[in-house]
Amino acid sequence: VPKSEALEDTKLAIDAGFRHIDSAYLYKNEEEVGLAIRSKIADGVVKRQDIFYTSKLWSTFHRPELVRPSLEESLKKLQLDYVDLYIIHYPVSLKPGGELIPKDDHGKVLFDTVDLCAMWEAMEKCKDAGLTKSIGVSNFNRRQLEMILNKPGLKYKPVCNQVECHPYLNQSKLLDFCKSKDIVLVAFSALGAQRDKIWVDQSSPVLLEDPVICALAKKHERSPALIALRYQLQRGVVVLAKSFSEKRIKENLQVFEFQLTSEDVKTLDGLNRNFRYDATPL
Ligand SMILES: NC(=O)c1ccc[n+]([C@@H]2O[C@H](COP(=O)([O-])OP(=O)(O)OC[C@H]3O[C@@H](n4cnc5c(N)ncnc54)[C@H](OP(=O)(O)O)[C@@H]3O)[C@@H](O)[C@H]2O)c1
Repeated sequence: VPKSEALEDTKLAIDAGFRHIDSAYLYKNEEEVGLAIRSKIADGVVKRQDIFYTSKLWSTFHRPELVRPSLEESLKKLQLDYVDLYIIHYPVSLKPGGELIPKDDHGKVLFDTVDLCAMWEAMEKCKDAGLTKSIGVSNFNRRQLEMILNKPGLKYKPVCNQVECHPYLNQSKLLDFCKSKDIVLVAFSALGAQRDKIWVDQSSPVLLEDPVICALAKKHERSPALIALRYQLQRGVVVLAKSFSEKRIKENLQVFEFQLTSEDVKTLDGLNRNFRYDATPL
């Protein structure tokens, strides 16, 4: 996205009342997002401690000796002293180097082999150094979470697992597991993803046009997006919502103004079809 958009929309979001900001090394916008946060602190709109900022360790920095320098690079771009949460972006490692997705001459992605437990110990050290308040993971399945949870000498367990989650992929089994381990499930693509041609099959169903979601929207006199966001809150899931429209950024905060009935939640549960929008080749 144009860099100016990340700057302006982050400012708009903070003005509207958003406090949880999710970004990543991969998104190449941490300079702009950091600038937006710092300008809202300078204006007196928020204090640093009011903001919950998440960054993510990209897959080319998985080797233990690269973990802290990668976070330090994010902090330098952000011009912040610490992040609130640092998470492993994907459980898949890529060959270190300049390319975000390194490929060989035939276009094949170049993977790396890194011990997940050694990577996690490097994450723990980032927390001990005060560079991040908490550490967690993203796109992990149960088996991968268990590799960390069962690590001998584990100092800190992952506080969260950020995964694709919406009525078509409600992750109920993973959610139950995470709850049983006191790990917060954070939902991305909760509105059905940005449908970017690079990541998403253009023939996939449009979540916010689903007739069941639209009927519930009509019943509650709210938008389909708000039904999809509220669904997650009532299941005990932390939900992310991306928008570059001032109107929709403001609208999405109405998620705190109404409630779905338990029947509505059950109806939405019934939409699950294990359908994943994110077709990242990792
Ligand atoms: N950990 C990971 O691997 C991972 C992967 C993907 C995403 N994420 C994170 O999750 C965040 C959100 O997920 P996402 O990027 O897939 O998008 P999303 O939140 O599912 O949003 C999808 C689209 O919904 C539209 N939208 C927003 N509010 C709306 C409303 N009230 N009514 C109608 N449409 C609305 C937005 O378009 P407009 O801009 O036009 O409003 C947006 O492009 C990302 O920004 C990123 O931080 C993480």
